[in-house]
Amino acid sequence: MTHHIPFDTMERFMTDVFKKIGVPKEEAQTCAEVLITSDKRGIDSHGIGRLKPIYYDRIIHQKIQKPVTEFEIVRDHLSTAVVDGHHGMGMVVAKRCMQMAIDKAKKHGMGMVVARNSTHYGIAGYYPLMACNENMIGISGTNARPSIAPTFGVENMLGTNPLVFGFPTDEPFDFVNDYATSILQRGKIEQYAREGKDCPSGVVIGRDGSSKTDSKQILDDLVKGEAALASIGGISEATGGHKGYGFAIVTEVLSAALQQGAFLQQLTDKDPNGNLKPYELGHFFIAIDIECFCNPTDFRKTAGDIMRALRDSEKAPGAERIYTCGEKEYLAGIKRKDSGVPVDEALQKDMITMRDELSLDYHFNFEK
Ligand SMILES: NC(=O)c1ccc[n+]([C@@H]2O[C@H](COP(=O)([O-])OP(=O)(O)OC[C@H]3O[C@@H](n4cnc5c(N)ncnc54)[C@H](O)[C@@H]3O)[C@@H](O)[C@H]2O)c1
Repeated sequence: MTHHIPFDTMERFMTDVFKKIGVPKEEAQTCAEVLITSDKRGIDSHGIGRLKPIYYDRIIHQKIQKPVTEFEIVRDHLSTAVVDGHHGMGMVVAKRCMQMAIDKAKKHGMGMVVARNSTHYGIAGYYPLMACNENMIGISGTNARPSIAPTFGVENMLGTNPLVFGFPTDEPFDFVNDYATSILQRGKIEQYAREGKDCPSGVVIGRDGSSKTDSKQILDDLVKGEAALASIGGISEATGGHKGYGFAIVTEVLSAALQQGAFLQQLTDKDPNGNLKPYELGHFFIAIDIECFCNPTDFRKTAGDIMRALRDSEKAPGAERIYTCGEKEYLAGIKRKDSGVPVDEALQKDMITMRDELSLDYHFNFEK
């Protein structure tokens, strides 16, 4: 049965887990903040659900990620920089890089920072929204372990590579198209697997070209290279699969080529001899100071007018409402404010395992 944990308890637990596995206090708070932001925004694939498999296990058991982040600026120009994260905490690398891009944009109108040798940075939308809070446009993307097949291909070559823009608006929530360039991203398939649900057909392609739906099997097959995700638009040109495929490449090039790091199938946790190794991910962060173009209040109004006009347009028969990006996450935040984070049985087990292995002093409301 699913139970709910209040946001502050969950954030404290996440911080304590990060601290106990060696992440310095302030950086543990940053990591927990990115994860809890995901849970608060209703993005269940990237919050507490990711703590054990993506961070805890990789640091403690696989030893392919470092809890202490060495943030090295390897190139620094007026409005640009290249950072090496030395396999530290992706969220720490990412937040510092976005802050650098924002600081550069304050001085020079625009700032762009890229990172290499980083690790999973969580929800991509967190970073553009940092720029929106400063009256800036924010853009971010990251490459990831190979999952997406090129249009007409069956081999998983590209990561789920989110390509995310944040625009400040005059509404209670900013625009942020916070999603992968695949139809489904791994976190959602993990969530389906936890819930015992199948994936819809047509979104995962097998090595033999068939559509796969068994979520648990897909997660195994993705790792073995026996299945690949379809890019936004699907597996065929007729439905525009080549368009999502192109956007996934945009993210891959911006994440890898400027910082001269690993790309495509190099982004795995195994070296050619089959030994475990860090993922060596790349990210990019762009901040654009709106003030250099127009009054930020006017920009917010125009952006808000665009969103309102779209939501006010005629609905399809049977449709209750039209949304704009960022809205559902805002509504989820309001809805969850009092109830907290939903924790299904699989997650309850993960939380108990981490607590017990780390001897943390917590008693959860889902325990008898
Ligand atoms: N770090 C990584 O490697 C990585 C990789 C892939 C995805 N992610 C993250 O995973 C999370 C989930 O990604 P996803 O691809 O499953 O996202 P998704 O398919 O759930 O889409 C979410 C986005 O679509 C918007 N949206 C939803 N319904 C809408 C509607 N009807 N009209 C208009 N907009 C609508 C939301 O506001 C949000 O911006 C994101 O936070 C993403 O950044 C991270």
